[in-house]
Amino acid sequence: MGGMDGPPPPHPAASQDDPAPAIGLRVAPLFYRLDLVPATVPALQQFVAAAGDVSDPRTPWFVGDNLITYGRNCGFLTDQRFVAAVLAADPRDSERAMAWRTHTLCWAAESCRGIEGDYVECGTYEGYSMAVVLHYLEGLPERRCWFYDLFDPTPGPGIGKRLGAHAPDLYDRVCRRFAPWPNVTVTRGKVPEVLAAGAPDRIAFLHVDLNDAAAELGALDALFDRVSPGGMIVFDDYGWTGYRAQKAAEDAFLRRHGLPVLELPTGQGLVIKR
Ligand SMILES: C[S@@+](CC[C@H](N)C(=O)[O-])C[C@H]1O[C@@H](n2cnc3c(N)ncnc32)[C@H](O)[C@@H]1O
Repeated sequence: MGGMDGPPPPHPAASQDDPAPAIGLRVAPLFYRLDLVPATVPALQQFVAAAGDVSDPRTPWFVGDNLITYGRNCGFLTDQRFVAAVLAADPRDSERAMAWRTHTLCWAAESCRGIEGDYVECGTYEGYSMAVVLHYLEGLPERRCWFYDLFDPTPGPGIGKRLGAHAPDLYDRVCRRFAPWPNVTVTRGKVPEVLAAGAPDRIAFLHVDLNDAAAELGALDALFDRVSPGGMIVFDDYGWTGYRAQKAAEDAFLRRHGLPVLELPTGQGLVIKR
């Protein structure tokens, strides 16, 4: 398994001299769509059993969210500010597994603090990711945040798939989740149409997570010109094979604007507007 230059050096946290961090985030080794590769499941289970406690933030492994790495620092797992933000959002195992993705969002949101404009998420669902971001940025009081979702979608064209928590009362529950932050507006409706009813003129940070190519392209069409130079767009689904149509549509749109998308190992796509 070693590369051409031999195995990677021991993970620093494996050293006996390295004190254990006060708090670290445990990540559940969860994977999606393994039903597509059933023959590999026993081998994966055997690997997880042999690798020790892969959920321990001090392990040399990161295993979760369809990502396995070895010998990476994964500093976010022991970054006390990030860990506190995740725990404040009361994560389920499936949400802990997304820690690398969530950390990307926190990094991008923090990086956009000096950029003109508001913070927008298209596709908010239960509000988990943006709740972590708001905890991380202590509520981001200097900016307005605009979050959009159908919350109880009826499947159809331009609408991403229905998920387990979708329900008639999800909108109210998400409003309650964000109630501690008066700078947050949660809007129920279909993207992009609902954006006409109220969306900011300038955007510093845009998270697009609709699981549907037409909806995400509609969001880009409506909002791209409002993203300030230096602002960031994070596409949650960009690198996932199950959402290739989104990648193709977004690549074509952004190529016309001369902007490359960085595909991250988390499955996200990152664009910095010029
Ligand atoms: C994967 S979930 C978002 C998860 C959320 N961003 C997070 O990280 O916690 C995708 C959401 O997009 C919403 N959605 C899909 N198509 C939509 C559309 N056209 N307009 C508004 N919301 C849509 C769904 O209702 C769903 O809640």
